[in-house]
Amino acid sequence: MTAAADEPSPETPTPYERIGGEPGVRTLVDRFYDLMDLEPAYAVLRGVHGSDLASARDKLCWFLCGWLGGPDHYVQRFGHPRLRARHLPFSIGSVERDQWLACMFQALRECEVEPALAERLEKSLFDTADWMRNRPG
Ligand code: HEM
Repeated sequence: MTAAADEPSPETPTPYERIGGEPGVRTLVDRFYDLMDLEPAYAVLRGVHGSDLASARDKLCWFLCGWLGGPDHYVQRFGHPRLRARHLPFSIGSVERDQWLACMFQALRECEVEPALAERLEKSLFDTADWMRNRPG
């Protein structure tokens, strides 16, 4: 999968720095899971998850830090992300993909991530989420 920070030459500042480093990523991930918990529009997505979202919050935060060009906390703890394989236990079709993306895009807006960066992340996240689908429909 393409990392958000994959560019031909090193970027200064990186998306990780532009989003506010680890505290910025943590704020985004917390808003994402809070919305998933609260908003009826994301109920199908919430239903795919277990009752406790604490470890999911940590893992997505650690993963996104590296994906955005910051420290590789996720890889240091768990090895290669193999995201598609790790999502195979969950049934993911277009509904789950679309709710995941809508929830993340809402979190990006509410956290006031700068619009140019948010737009770029939205494109990369669409490709990643689409690739995670593991059932027709
Ligand atoms: C397409 C819709 C998606 C669904 C329905 C979905 C669902 C899930 C679920 C149910 C878990 C397990 C949470 C737990 O441990 O309690 C999970 C884990 C995870 N998801 Fe997703 N996810 C989706 C897309 C994505 C995307 C686009 C990314 C990355 C940008 C992502 C990154 C992760 C990561 C890093 C983990 C932790 C993996 C592990 O170490 O076990 N997910 N996801």
